[in-house]
Amino acid sequence: MEPPSGPASRRHVPWNRLLLAVSLLTFWTPPTTAQPTIETMPPLAAEGSDVLLLAHNVAKNPLGYSWYRGERIDNSQLIVSYRVATNLTTKGPTHSGREALYPNGTLLIQSVTQKDTGSYMLLVTKDDLQTERQTGQIHVHPVLPTPIITSNNSKPWEHKDTVVLTCGPETQNTSYMWWISNQSLPKSTRLELSEDKRTLTVVTVTRKEKGPYVCETRNPVSISRSDPFTLDVLWRENTRALGVGAITGIVIGVLLVLTLLAVLGCFIFLHRYSGIPRCCPHPQVDPSPRGRTPHPPISGLDLQDLPTSPRVFSLVLQFLPHQVLTCGSFLSTILIYFVI
Ligand SMILES: *[C@@H]1O[C@H](CO)[C@@H](O)[C@H](O)[C@H]1NC(C)=O
Ligand SMILES: *[C@@H]1O[C@H](CO)[C@@H](O)[C@H](O)[C@H]1NC(C)=O
Ligand SMILES: *[C@@H]1O[C@H](CO)[C@@H](O)[C@H](O)[C@H]1NC(C)=O
Ligand SMILES: *[C@@H]1O[C@H](CO)[C@@H](O)[C@H](O)[C@H]1NC(C)=O
Ligand SMILES: *[C@@H]1O[C@H](CO)[C@@H](O)[C@H](O)[C@H]1NC(C)=O
Repeated sequence: MEPPSGPASRRHVPWNRLLLAVSLLTFWTPPTTAQPTIETMPPLAAEGSDVLLLAHNVAKNPLGYSWYRGERIDNSQLIVSYRVATNLTTKGPTHSGREALYPNGTLLIQSVTQKDTGSYMLLVTKDDLQTERQTGQIHVHPVLPTPIITSNNSKPWEHKDTVVLTCGPETQNTSYMWWISNQSLPKSTRLELSEDKRTLTVVTVTRKEKGPYVCETRNPVSISRSDPFTLDVLWRENTRALGVGAITGIVIGVLLVLTLLAVLGCFIFLHRYSGIPRCCPHPQVDPSPRGRTPHPPISGLDLQDLPTSPRVFSLVLQFLPHQVLTCGSFLSTILIYFVI
Protein backbone atom coordinates (compact mmCIF):
# COMPACT_ATOMS: atom_id res chain seq x y z
CA MET A 1 0.00 0.00 0.00
CA GLU A 2 2.86 2.37 -0.72
CA PRO A 3 1.31 5.50 -2.18
CA PRO A 4 3.04 7.41 -5.03
CA SER A 5 6.25 8.90 -3.73
CA GLY A 6 5.24 12.47 -4.56
CA PRO A 7 3.26 14.80 -6.76
CA ALA A 8 6.19 15.03 -9.20
CA SER A 9 6.22 11.30 -9.99
CA ARG A 10 2.41 11.17 -10.23
CA ARG A 11 2.45 13.07 -13.58
CA HIS A 12 4.21 10.13 -15.26
CA VAL A 13 1.74 7.46 -14.10
CA PRO A 14 -0.67 6.44 -16.87
CA TRP A 15 -4.26 7.56 -16.20
CA ASN A 16 -5.77 4.02 -16.21
CA ARG A 17 -3.18 2.70 -13.71
CA LEU A 18 -3.88 5.64 -11.42
CA LEU A 19 -7.62 4.87 -11.55
CA LEU A 20 -6.90 1.25 -10.69
CA ALA A 21 -4.71 2.28 -7.78
CA VAL A 22 -7.40 4.63 -6.49
CA SER A 23 -10.10 1.92 -6.72
CA LEU A 24 -7.85 -0.58 -4.94
CA LEU A 25 -7.11 1.99 -2.21
CA THR A 26 -10.83 2.65 -1.76
CA PHE A 27 -11.44 -1.08 -1.54
CA TRP A 28 -8.73 -1.74 1.05
CA THR A 29 -9.26 1.26 3.27
CA PRO A 30 -11.25 0.17 6.29
CA PRO A 31 -14.04 2.65 7.11
CA THR A 32 -12.80 3.08 10.69
CA THR A 33 -9.68 4.91 9.48
CA ALA A 34 -11.78 7.51 7.71
CA GLN A 35 -11.78 10.02 10.55
CA PRO A 36 -9.05 10.92 13.00
CA THR A 37 -10.00 11.01 16.66
CA ILE A 38 -8.61 13.20 19.41
CA GLU A 39 -7.88 11.85 22.86
CA THR A 40 -7.10 14.25 25.69
CA MET A 41 -4.47 12.96 28.11
CA PRO A 42 -5.05 13.21 30.99
CA PRO A 43 -8.82 13.55 30.50
CA LEU A 44 -9.11 15.68 33.68
CA ALA A 45 -6.40 18.28 33.57
CA ALA A 46 -5.16 19.97 36.71
CA GLU A 47 -3.93 23.52 36.45
CA GLY A 48 -0.15 23.50 35.90
CA SER A 49 0.02 20.04 34.38
CA ASP A 50 0.96 19.10 30.80
CA VAL A 51 -1.81 17.96 28.47
CA LEU A 52 -1.53 15.94 25.25
CA LEU A 53 -4.11 16.13 22.48
CA LEU A 54 -3.37 12.77 20.90
CA ALA A 55 -4.26 12.42 17.23
CA HIS A 56 -5.37 8.84 16.48
CA ASN A 57 -6.25 7.31 13.12
CA VAL A 58 -4.60 10.07 11.14
CA ALA A 59 -4.35 9.38 7.41
CA LYS A 60 -1.02 7.86 6.42
CA ASN A 61 1.67 10.12 4.93
CA PRO A 62 -0.25 13.37 5.21
CA LEU A 63 1.14 16.58 3.80
CA GLY A 64 0.73 18.39 7.07
CA TYR A 65 -1.20 19.21 10.24
CA SER A 66 -2.68 22.39 11.67
CA TRP A 67 -4.09 22.97 15.16
CA TYR A 68 -6.60 25.76 15.77
CA ARG A 69 -8.17 27.16 18.91
CA GLY A 70 -11.96 26.67 18.71
CA GLU A 71 -13.93 24.60 16.26
CA ARG A 72 -13.47 26.52 13.00
CA ILE A 73 -10.73 26.94 10.44
CA ASP A 74 -9.81 30.51 11.21
CA ASN A 75 -6.27 31.66 10.53
CA SER A 76 -6.50 34.15 13.40
CA GLN A 77 -7.00 31.14 15.70
CA LEU A 78 -4.10 29.07 14.32
CA ILE A 79 -1.84 27.70 17.04
CA VAL A 80 0.72 25.82 15.01
CA SER A 81 1.05 24.08 11.68
CA TYR A 82 3.53 21.52 10.40
CA ARG A 83 4.53 20.51 6.90
CA VAL A 84 5.85 16.96 6.71
CA ALA A 85 7.75 17.44 3.44
CA THR A 86 9.81 20.36 4.69
CA ASN A 87 9.80 19.40 8.41
CA LEU A 88 8.78 22.98 9.05
CA THR A 89 6.75 24.13 12.04
CA THR A 90 4.91 27.47 11.80
CA LYS A 91 3.56 29.17 14.88
CA GLY A 92 0.17 30.88 14.63
CA PRO A 93 -1.31 33.93 16.42
CA THR A 94 -2.65 31.91 19.33
CA HIS A 95 0.65 30.12 20.04
CA SER A 96 1.49 30.89 23.68
CA GLY A 97 5.00 29.41 23.70
CA ARG A 98 3.84 26.35 25.63
CA GLU A 99 2.61 24.29 22.65
CA ALA A 100 4.60 21.69 20.71
CA LEU A 101 3.44 19.68 17.69
CA TYR A 102 4.82 16.19 17.16
CA PRO A 103 5.37 14.73 13.67
CA ASN A 104 2.47 12.30 14.32
CA GLY A 105 0.03 15.21 14.72
CA THR A 106 -0.16 15.12 18.50
CA LEU A 107 -0.22 18.51 20.23
CA LEU A 108 1.41 19.02 23.62
CA ILE A 109 0.38 21.96 25.83
CA GLN A 110 2.60 22.50 28.84
CA SER A 111 1.58 23.88 32.26
CA VAL A 112 -2.04 24.51 31.32
CA THR A 113 -4.09 27.27 32.93
CA GLN A 114 -7.86 27.58 33.19
CA LYS A 115 -7.71 29.88 30.14
CA ASP A 116 -6.67 26.82 28.11
CA THR A 117 -10.09 25.26 28.75
CA GLY A 118 -11.97 24.91 25.48
CA SER A 119 -12.02 23.28 22.06
CA TYR A 120 -9.05 22.53 19.83
CA MET A 121 -9.33 21.51 16.20
CA LEU A 122 -6.90 19.42 14.20
CA LEU A 123 -6.85 19.83 10.42
CA VAL A 124 -5.01 17.07 8.52
CA THR A 125 -4.08 17.74 4.91
CA LYS A 126 -3.86 14.42 3.13
CA ASP A 127 -1.59 13.64 0.23
CA ASP A 128 -4.57 13.97 -2.14
CA LEU A 129 -5.05 17.54 -0.78
CA GLN A 130 -8.30 16.47 0.87
CA THR A 131 -8.61 17.51 4.49
CA GLU A 132 -9.85 15.79 7.62
CA ARG A 133 -10.77 17.62 10.78
CA GLN A 134 -11.55 16.65 14.33
CA THR A 135 -11.99 18.61 17.52
CA GLY A 136 -10.91 17.76 21.05
CA GLN A 137 -11.69 19.38 24.39
CA ILE A 138 -9.54 20.42 27.30
CA HIS A 139 -11.07 21.19 30.69
CA VAL A 140 -8.56 22.55 33.16
CA HIS A 141 -9.59 22.31 36.82
CA PRO A 142 -7.91 24.35 39.52
CA VAL A 143 -5.94 22.55 42.23
CA LEU A 144 -7.90 23.43 45.36
CA PRO A 145 -6.08 25.38 48.07
CA THR A 146 -6.18 24.14 51.66
CA PRO A 147 -9.58 25.26 52.96
CA ILE A 148 -9.91 27.26 56.18
CA ILE A 149 -12.86 27.13 58.58
CA THR A 150 -14.08 30.44 59.98
CA SER A 151 -16.73 31.04 62.61
CA ASN A 152 -18.98 34.11 62.86
CA ASN A 153 -18.68 33.93 66.65
CA SER A 154 -15.33 33.18 68.26
CA LYS A 155 -16.71 32.85 71.81
CA PRO A 156 -20.28 31.53 71.67
CA TRP A 157 -22.25 30.95 74.87
CA GLU A 158 -23.63 27.49 75.48
CA HIS A 159 -27.42 27.06 75.02
CA LYS A 160 -27.62 30.64 73.75
CA ASP A 161 -25.62 31.39 70.59
CA THR A 162 -26.01 30.05 67.07
CA VAL A 163 -22.72 29.69 65.25
CA VAL A 164 -22.15 29.70 61.49
CA LEU A 165 -19.01 27.88 60.33
CA THR A 166 -17.84 28.63 56.78
CA CYS A 167 -15.43 26.58 54.69
CA GLY A 168 -13.43 28.97 52.52
CA PRO A 169 -12.33 30.14 50.08
CA GLU A 170 -15.28 29.64 47.77
CA THR A 171 -14.24 27.97 44.51
CA GLN A 172 -16.34 27.00 41.51
CA ASN A 173 -17.48 23.44 40.89
CA THR A 174 -16.29 22.34 44.32
CA SER A 175 -18.09 19.94 46.62
CA TYR A 176 -17.79 20.39 50.37
CA MET A 177 -17.85 17.87 53.18
CA TRP A 178 -17.68 18.25 56.97
CA TRP A 179 -16.32 16.09 59.76
CA ILE A 180 -16.77 16.51 63.48
CA SER A 181 -14.29 14.66 65.73
CA ASN A 182 -13.19 12.60 62.69
CA GLN A 183 -16.79 11.43 62.14
CA SER A 184 -19.22 12.46 59.45
CA LEU A 185 -21.87 14.85 60.76
CA PRO A 186 -24.37 13.16 63.08
CA LYS A 187 -28.05 13.53 62.28
CA SER A 188 -29.11 16.44 64.42
CA THR A 189 -31.75 19.10 63.98
CA ARG A 190 -29.26 21.61 65.40
CA LEU A 191 -26.65 21.00 62.69
CA GLU A 192 -27.76 22.63 59.44
CA LEU A 193 -25.80 22.48 56.18
CA SER A 194 -26.35 25.07 53.49
CA GLU A 195 -27.45 23.86 50.06
CA ASP A 196 -23.90 23.95 48.68
CA LYS A 197 -22.70 22.49 52.02
CA ARG A 198 -20.14 25.28 52.32
CA THR A 199 -21.59 26.62 55.59
CA LEU A 200 -22.55 24.67 58.66
CA THR A 201 -24.91 26.25 61.20
CA VAL A 202 -24.78 24.97 64.78
CA VAL A 203 -28.05 26.10 66.37
CA THR A 204 -27.76 26.98 70.11
CA VAL A 205 -24.35 25.43 70.48
CA THR A 206 -23.52 23.16 73.43
CA ARG A 207 -20.18 21.95 74.79
CA LYS A 208 -20.73 18.68 72.89
CA GLU A 209 -20.36 20.59 69.61
CA LYS A 210 -16.91 22.04 70.32
CA GLY A 211 -15.49 19.90 67.52
CA PRO A 212 -12.83 19.70 66.23
CA TYR A 213 -14.39 20.41 62.84
CA VAL A 214 -12.68 19.63 59.53
CA CYS A 215 -13.98 20.59 56.11
CA GLU A 216 -12.97 18.92 52.89
CA THR A 217 -13.11 20.33 49.36
CA ARG A 218 -13.15 18.23 46.24
CA ASN A 219 -13.10 18.82 42.51
CA PRO A 220 -12.29 16.41 39.68
CA VAL A 221 -8.54 16.82 40.13
CA SER A 222 -7.98 17.46 43.81
CA ILE A 223 -9.06 16.82 47.40
CA SER A 224 -8.06 19.17 50.18
CA ARG A 225 -8.74 19.16 53.93
CA SER A 226 -8.71 22.01 56.40
CA ASP A 227 -6.86 22.03 59.68
CA PRO A 228 -9.08 21.01 62.64
CA PHE A 229 -11.12 23.88 64.04
CA THR A 230 -12.33 23.83 67.64
CA LEU A 231 -15.18 26.02 68.91
CA ASP A 232 -14.45 27.84 72.15
CA VAL A 233 -17.86 27.34 73.79
CA LEU A 234 -18.37 29.42 76.95
CA TRP A 235 -20.59 28.29 79.81
CA ARG A 236 -21.54 29.54 83.29
CA GLU A 237 -18.87 28.16 85.58
CA ASN A 238 -21.13 27.64 88.61
CA THR A 239 -18.87 25.69 90.94
CA ARG A 240 -15.55 26.97 89.74
CA ALA A 241 -16.59 30.59 90.21
CA LEU A 242 -16.98 30.06 93.97
CA GLY A 243 -13.89 30.56 96.09
CA VAL A 244 -12.71 28.24 98.85
CA GLY A 245 -14.19 30.61 101.47
CA ALA A 246 -17.63 30.47 99.92
CA ILE A 247 -17.55 26.68 99.74
CA THR A 248 -16.48 26.49 103.42
CA GLY A 249 -19.33 28.83 104.33
CA ILE A 250 -21.84 26.67 102.52
CA VAL A 251 -20.56 23.51 104.21
CA ILE A 252 -20.71 25.10 107.68
CA GLY A 253 -24.21 26.40 106.96
CA VAL A 254 -25.38 22.97 105.86
CA LEU A 255 -23.85 21.38 108.98
CA LEU A 256 -25.55 23.93 111.25
CA VAL A 257 -28.93 23.31 109.63
CA LEU A 258 -28.42 19.56 109.95
CA THR A 259 -27.51 19.91 113.63
CA LEU A 260 -30.56 22.05 114.30
CA LEU A 261 -32.78 19.57 112.48
CA ALA A 262 -31.29 16.74 114.51
CA VAL A 263 -31.84 18.55 117.81
CA LEU A 264 -35.36 19.38 116.79
CA GLY A 265 -36.06 15.83 115.72
CA CYS A 266 -34.76 14.48 118.99
CA PHE A 267 -36.80 16.92 120.93
CA ILE A 268 -40.00 15.93 119.14
CA PHE A 269 -39.20 12.26 119.47
CA LEU A 270 -38.38 12.41 123.18
CA HIS A 271 -41.31 14.68 123.90
CA ARG A 272 -43.71 12.22 122.30
CA TYR A 273 -42.41 9.05 123.88
CA SER A 274 -40.87 9.95 127.24
CA GLY A 275 -43.85 11.21 129.19
CA ILE A 276 -43.30 14.97 128.94
CA PRO A 277 -46.60 16.61 129.83
CA ARG A 278 -48.46 17.71 126.78
CA CYS A 279 -51.94 18.31 125.74
CA CYS A 280 -53.68 17.05 122.72
CA PRO A 281 -56.11 18.84 120.49
CA HIS A 282 -58.42 15.83 120.76
CA PRO A 283 -58.67 14.75 124.41
CA GLN A 284 -60.92 11.80 123.62
CA VAL A 285 -58.19 10.03 121.66
CA ASP A 286 -55.48 10.81 124.18
CA PRO A 287 -55.81 8.64 127.25
CA SER A 288 -52.88 10.27 129.02
CA PRO A 289 -54.06 11.81 132.28
CA ARG A 290 -51.41 14.50 132.02
CA GLY A 291 -53.01 15.62 128.81
CA ARG A 292 -55.91 16.90 130.95
CA THR A 293 -53.97 19.45 132.96
CA PRO A 294 -55.76 22.73 133.56
CA HIS A 295 -53.32 24.56 131.32
CA PRO A 296 -54.72 25.76 128.04
CA PRO A 297 -54.12 23.16 125.36
CA ILE A 298 -50.78 23.36 123.67
CA SER A 299 -51.39 22.36 120.15
CA GLY A 300 -48.85 19.62 119.90
CA LEU A 301 -45.38 20.52 118.79
CA ASP A 302 -45.95 21.61 115.22
CA LEU A 303 -43.06 23.70 114.03
CA GLN A 304 -45.14 26.74 113.23
CA ASP A 305 -46.47 26.83 116.75
CA LEU A 306 -43.13 26.75 118.51
CA PRO A 307 -42.31 30.45 118.57
CA THR A 308 -45.85 31.42 119.55
CA SER A 309 -46.03 29.06 122.43
CA PRO A 310 -44.02 30.22 125.49
CA ARG A 311 -44.90 27.03 127.34
CA VAL A 312 -43.41 24.78 124.73
CA PHE A 313 -40.35 27.02 124.54
CA SER A 314 -39.81 26.70 128.29
CA LEU A 315 -40.25 22.94 127.99
CA VAL A 316 -37.60 22.91 125.28
CA LEU A 317 -35.17 24.85 127.48
CA GLN A 318 -35.90 22.64 130.46
CA PHE A 319 -35.40 19.48 128.49
CA LEU A 320 -32.46 20.45 126.28
CA PRO A 321 -29.51 19.85 128.59
CA HIS A 322 -30.35 16.19 129.04
CA GLN A 323 -31.31 13.62 126.48
CA VAL A 324 -31.98 16.03 123.59
CA LEU A 325 -28.43 17.29 123.35
CA THR A 326 -27.02 13.79 123.56
CA CYS A 327 -29.45 12.46 121.00
CA GLY A 328 -29.07 15.56 118.82
CA SER A 329 -25.33 15.39 118.69
CA PHE A 330 -25.53 11.67 117.97
CA LEU A 331 -28.02 12.15 115.13
CA SER A 332 -26.19 15.13 113.64
CA THR A 333 -22.95 13.16 113.68
CA ILE A 334 -24.66 10.41 111.70
CA LEU A 335 -26.24 12.93 109.29
CA ILE A 336 -22.95 14.78 108.76
CA TYR A 337 -21.20 11.48 108.21
CA PHE A 338 -23.67 10.57 105.47
CA VAL A 339 -23.63 14.01 103.86
CA ILE A 340 -19.87 14.20 103.72
C1 LIG B 1 2.85 10.99 18.97
O1 LIG B 1 4.16 11.23 19.45
C2 LIG B 1 4.25 11.60 20.81
C3 LIG B 1 5.70 11.92 21.11
O2 LIG B 1 6.54 10.95 20.64
C4 LIG B 1 3.71 10.46 21.67
O3 LIG B 1 3.77 10.81 23.02
C5 LIG B 1 2.27 10.16 21.28
O4 LIG B 1 1.79 9.05 21.98
C6 LIG B 1 2.18 9.91 19.76
N1 LIG B 1 0.75 9.88 19.41
C7 LIG B 1 0.09 8.75 19.12
C8 LIG B 1 -1.33 8.90 18.75
O5 LIG B 1 0.66 7.69 19.18
C1 LIG C 1 12.83 17.76 11.70
O1 LIG C 1 13.37 18.85 12.44
C2 LIG C 1 13.77 18.53 13.75
C3 LIG C 1 14.25 19.78 14.43
O2 LIG C 1 13.53 20.87 14.00
C4 LIG C 1 14.87 17.47 13.70
O3 LIG C 1 15.21 17.08 15.02
C5 LIG C 1 14.36 16.28 12.95
O4 LIG C 1 15.40 15.32 12.81
C6 LIG C 1 13.86 16.67 11.58
N1 LIG C 1 13.28 15.51 10.92
C7 LIG C 1 13.44 15.28 9.65
C8 LIG C 1 12.76 14.06 9.11
O5 LIG C 1 14.11 16.01 8.95
C1 LIG D 1 -23.88 34.13 63.38
O1 LIG D 1 -24.88 33.77 62.48
C2 LIG D 1 -26.10 33.33 63.10
C3 LIG D 1 -27.03 32.88 62.00
O2 LIG D 1 -27.12 33.81 60.98
C4 LIG D 1 -26.70 34.47 63.89
O3 LIG D 1 -27.86 34.02 64.54
C5 LIG D 1 -25.69 34.93 64.93
O4 LIG D 1 -26.16 36.04 65.60
C6 LIG D 1 -24.37 35.28 64.24
N1 LIG D 1 -23.39 35.59 65.28
C7 LIG D 1 -22.69 36.72 65.28
C8 LIG D 1 -21.75 36.93 66.41
O5 LIG D 1 -22.80 37.53 64.36
C1 LIG E 1 -18.06 24.48 36.41
O1 LIG E 1 -18.92 23.53 35.82
C2 LIG E 1 -19.67 24.05 34.74
C3 LIG E 1 -20.59 22.95 34.26
O2 LIG E 1 -20.12 21.71 34.58
C4 LIG E 1 -18.72 24.53 33.64
O3 LIG E 1 -19.47 25.07 32.60
C5 LIG E 1 -17.79 25.58 34.22
O4 LIG E 1 -16.86 25.95 33.26
C6 LIG E 1 -17.06 25.03 35.41
N1 LIG E 1 -16.25 26.04 36.02
C7 LIG E 1 -14.97 25.84 36.34
C8 LIG E 1 -14.27 26.99 36.95
O5 LIG E 1 -14.42 24.77 36.15
C1 LIG F 1 -8.57 12.14 64.11
O1 LIG F 1 -7.70 11.54 63.20
C2 LIG F 1 -6.35 12.00 63.29
C3 LIG F 1 -5.54 11.34 62.21
O2 LIG F 1 -6.33 10.71 61.28
C4 LIG F 1 -5.80 11.67 64.66
O3 LIG F 1 -4.49 12.17 64.77
C5 LIG F 1 -6.68 12.29 65.71
O4 LIG F 1 -6.24 11.91 66.98
C6 LIG F 1 -8.12 11.87 65.54
N1 LIG F 1 -8.94 12.62 66.47
C7 LIG F 1 -9.98 12.08 67.11
C8 LIG F 1 -10.73 12.99 68.03
O5 LIG F 1 -10.32 10.92 66.94
